[in-house]
Amino acid sequence: MKHSFSILLLVILGVTCVFLTSCKKKSAGSEGGSASGATPSGIQKKLVIGTCAEFPPFEFFGADGSVQGIDIDLMSAIAKKLNMELVIENMDFNQIIGKVVDGTLDVGAAGITVNEERMKIVDFSTGYYSGCQVMIVPNHSEIKGKDDLRGKVVSVQSGATGESLAKELQLDIVSFPRASDAVLAVLHNNADVAIMDDEPAKRFQTKNSIRIKILPEKLTVEVYGLAVNKKNARLLDDLNRCLDEMTKNGELDAIFGKWMHN
Ligand code: ARG
Repeated sequence: MKHSFSILLLVILGVTCVFLTSCKKKSAGSEGGSASGATPSGIQKKLVIGTCAEFPPFEFFGADGSVQGIDIDLMSAIAKKLNMELVIENMDFNQIIGKVVDGTLDVGAAGITVNEERMKIVDFSTGYYSGCQVMIVPNHSEIKGKDDLRGKVVSVQSGATGESLAKELQLDIVSFPRASDAVLAVLHNNADVAIMDDEPAKRFQTKNSIRIKILPEKLTVEVYGLAVNKKNARLLDDLNRCLDEMTKNGELDAIFGKWMHN
């Protein structure tokens, strides 16, 4: 009797052990969201990023039809470090943050300015670039700076910080899904001035330098960060660790060096 009781106890202990181990495994696998490393089957997890590829030199379609630029090289390097497969989704800029919030995207990588309004709904990595908002006007425009904007038609990209600024200044706004279309509006006399980020502005302007120029006045100074779902603290840590490493070892400078001058 004593003997069979001990056997029963052993069986109960055994079953409990198996149960606990399987629970533990399950919770490790369902931690949701993060991500570094390959799955036990050896298949790499996907790192899905959202971008809006009309914003050179950060993201744009190259001649071969692939999405290229600073954000793409940056995210490729990060995905490699995290042993993940990079998946790039192209979309309108004003959809990116919403898709990070609803979990469709892991990361928003699109020259996204870190600001308070966005920080209420997503987390941002440490900043990786500092840019500013500038004005693009026809070469013979009477607009010389911010003080001349009142009563003028301003073209901007929908959902971009240039649009928020134009709203703040209570200007007459026309919005476009693409920053390049905001420039076209100035070229076609449908707007008096376009407000957008300085680096893309330079790329658009050099293509049309006989007709448009960038005013020297800077309207804002902004920092770009990678947007992540607020529930994905581990991925945010991973991104910051990679950014830190890439800043220290010169990888980040090399990416900027490659794209800033061509
Ligand atoms: N920096 C600006 C913002 O965050 C514009 C970014 C536009 N990016 C793009 N890929 N079109 O609002």
